[in-house]
Amino acid sequence: MQIATTIAQARALFDVFAQPLGFVPTMGALHEGHLELVRRAKAECPSVAASLFVNPMQFAPGEDLAKYPRDFEGDREKLRAAGVDVLFAPDPAAMYPPGFSSSIDVGTIGSAYEGAIRPDHFRGVATVVGKLLHIVLPEVLYVGQKDAQQSAVLRKMVRDLDFPVRVEVVETVREGDGLALSSRNAYLTAAQRGEAITLRRALLAMREALDGGAAKADAAAVARATLSPIATPDYFDLVDADTFEPLDRLRPGAFVIGAARFGTTRLLDNLWIKS
Ligand code: PAJ
Repeated sequence: MQIATTIAQARALFDVFAQPLGFVPTMGALHEGHLELVRRAKAECPSVAASLFVNPMQFAPGEDLAKYPRDFEGDREKLRAAGVDVLFAPDPAAMYPPGFSSSIDVGTIGSAYEGAIRPDHFRGVATVVGKLLHIVLPEVLYVGQKDAQQSAVLRKMVRDLDFPVRVEVVETVREGDGLALSSRNAYLTAAQRGEAITLRRALLAMREALDGGAAKADAAAVARATLSPIATPDYFDLVDADTFEPLDRLRPGAFVIGAARFGTTRLLDNLWIKS
């Protein structure tokens, strides 16, 4: 595995890889969810690139940028073992030199749900992924369904701004009990970890209520009642998978989405309504 830490090194390296090049952007603290994205890319593309970059632009002041789990050596070895051909791991100063001021605003798709709670978050995500796509020049971008709104934002950015890349969304990898893998699960206490599975149970209960004909507000109330009493719900809703506009009724191409806080840790999950 080759490693580039500057944009010039990355450009020189990415020139020589066979196309299609598959690309998996990450913020590190890698788990099986990230590695599943790499495996999908390996299965579909002759060359695979990954990035490790904890992007300051997508964290608001007071969020967990400073304490975000970092393990460069461990992550590098996981990517090497997974067969990544080239790793891009830039310094913040390389990505955001003094005077940097441009950004990508994806519009209203990024302003509700996660965007309402974290107002500049998706601007930061779209901007860094836009930059990474220009540096890495992949043919396929792999993202996780776990962050469904992020995936919708990135698909919209690619469509609206004609990035020459195909976006593949990979299904969520879960723990044995069903909790979605997330780098932030590491923040949970043992007691919170035990209760964290109630987020998925709440989404399943909401889908069942909608399936049984309940009005959305009632189904969301069922979800909140299913969530552990130690958690604080942020939102439960039913949305269109492409636009993230709210829907009233279950239909294929929808997501049941939810987010809740367990102590200071926010967890997200969703159910994709395929058929
Ligand atoms: P990060 O949280 O490190 O996630 C990197 C990718 O892994 C994202 O596409 C995310 O959806 C996917 N992922 C996370 N948990 C997953 C799981 N349990 N199953 C499957 N895929 C999972 O998301 C980011 O980083 C950043 O916002 C980034 C896109 C890299 C931009 O900075």
